[in-house]
Amino acid sequence: MPIKIKKYVDADVKKQEALKQNGEIPIHIAIIMDGNGRWAQKQNLPRVAGHKEGVESVRDMVEACGQLGVKYLTLYAFSKENWKRPKDEVSVLMRLLMRALQNEADKLHRNNVKVRAIGDISTLPIEVQNGLLDAIIKTQNNTGLNLLLALSYSGRWDITQAIKKIASDIKRGSLSEDNIDDAMVSKYLSTQGIPDPDLLIRTSGELRISNFLLWQLAYSEIFISPLFWPEFRRDQLYQVITDYQSRERRFGMTGNQIKTKQ
Ligand code: FPP
Repeated sequence: MPIKIKKYVDADVKKQEALKQNGEIPIHIAIIMDGNGRWAQKQNLPRVAGHKEGVESVRDMVEACGQLGVKYLTLYAFSKENWKRPKDEVSVLMRLLMRALQNEADKLHRNNVKVRAIGDISTLPIEVQNGLLDAIIKTQNNTGLNLLLALSYSGRWDITQAIKKIASDIKRGSLSEDNIDDAMVSKYLSTQGIPDPDLLIRTSGELRISNFLLWQLAYSEIFISPLFWPEFRRDQLYQVITDYQSRERRFGMTGNQIKTKQ
């Protein structure tokens, strides 16, 4: 390894060790990756250049989260509302996604990452569905970071499909209305079996949830970064996690109750 890269890697390992010593690493991080277009515009580049650079941030995030021991990373890669964008941009995003899946699947597998998807997957172009399925099957037995790609996803879609399944199970008698509670509803969502996000990061300074994991974000700590997504790399993630570690999560209880519980 060239000396310059080795120095960078050594320094990064030290930062990660310091983070792990400093407090808990979030189990589940969810990210709304926003600002690709504005990043490109800022440097007089076409929007597609922003999406391409955004893929680099995705790569860096996946690698850093895996090394830190984060168990779940959920990326809002394409929302249901994103279908309303100009046709050309949708095609570019789909092509980028497919290429990233094809090019990265082996590396993800070597790094013990398990690829998963949430969303209305049947609405994606068939080539993307196939690329996704290949990556999911290849990595299905991995035990490291779970990478959840939210594709053609929206929180309202997720809740609606859960309600439909609940109604159908009640109708055929496999579920009783009396058994419906928070935990039961969670089981019908696309994130079934996955703990709710501890931390939600949104880039580009927007103060919105944009129809992301509406049910699952009930008690997530929210961090808004002013940076555009292509500028958000591992050092920024480390800063966010440090901030997360300084927060007191009370889940509706008092600070004293939380302290006596520990
Ligand atoms: C938001 O920027 C970003 C998206 C809609 C797509 C995110 C997709 C990628 C980073 C590429 C593929 C992802 C993976 C998982 C490989 P924007 O276009 O809304 O930016 P703007 O708000 O500045 O216009």
